Amino acid sequence: MPNQPINLPPQLAPLREGQISEAAYVLGRAFQQDGMFTYVFPNEMARARHVPVIMKSGIRYGFTYGQATVTQGVIHGVAVTAVRGRQGATTAKPGWTYKLRQLMTRLKYGRESWRRYQLASAAIRELHVRNISGPHWYLLLLGVSPQKQGTGLGGVLLKELLDRADRDNLAVYLDTFKRDNLSFYQKYGFEVKQQLSIDGGKAMAWAMVRLSKRT
Ligand SMILES: CC(C)(COP(=O)(O)OP(=O)(O)OC[C@H]1O[C@@H](n2cnc3c(N)ncnc32)[C@H](O)[C@@H]1OP(=O)(O)O)[C@@H](O)C(=O)NCCC(=O)NCCS
Repeated sequence: MPNQPINLPPQLAPLREGQISEAAYVLGRAFQQDGMFTYVFPNEMARARHVPVIMKSGIRYGFTYGQATVTQGVIHGVAVTAVRGRQGATTAKPGWTYKLRQLMTRLKYGRESWRRYQLASAAIRELHVRNISGPHWYLLLLGVSPQKQGTGLGGVLLKELLDRADRDNLAVYLDTFKRDNLSFYQKYGFEVKQQLSIDGGKAMAWAMVRLSKRT
């Protein structure tokens, strides 16, 4: 069953299906200055249009195959995780609808943004394969509304999923395209495993891992 309720601190709640668009809007705004999206969509209007749509499919994936958690009430923060590498863990199988969606997306983005999106996606896959093996939580998305950033919500969301990973004795993996985020994650026990330059340095991505406290 997607997005099963878990024991959460009082500030947080499991995302409900009817909230997916609201959560995508919040993440869409949070990620406007992210290094991946300023690289893929240098044009601000294109970025504002496309990022929430990308966020929506990430949230839907996590909602179905992992866990999506939001702040209580009006959504100001969202965390989306999926379990990777565990026996029996479900992965989406690309069928013809997926391929058709890819084609439509390619047309919407235009040639250069599509090329950049493919390069960034390949970097995400490469970092993931190279830097962690075995069962782990993959932090797909973490974001807080710009006007609420720096007020502790990101920390609450992150701490909850780290506690959950410790209970399950699982490492947590993430990638980020924003250098400023490294110190935020390091504070919570993540280590930088690799830094990758994309497209001749037009973008940078980092792989980070936090081992379970129980190992
Ligand atoms: C990164 C992010 C999730 C942190 O959430 P937050 O609620 O702003 O973080 P908190 O208030 O719990 O913690 C703030 C700490 O993070 C650091 N930080 C990182 N990015 C920050 C930002 N954009 N605004 C404010 N603080 C930020 C601060 O230095 C601060 O450190 P301090 O406690 O030592 O002063 C949030 O800033 C965000 O949504 N950023 C844009 C999207 C993004 O990059 N997400 C992560 C992708 S991997």
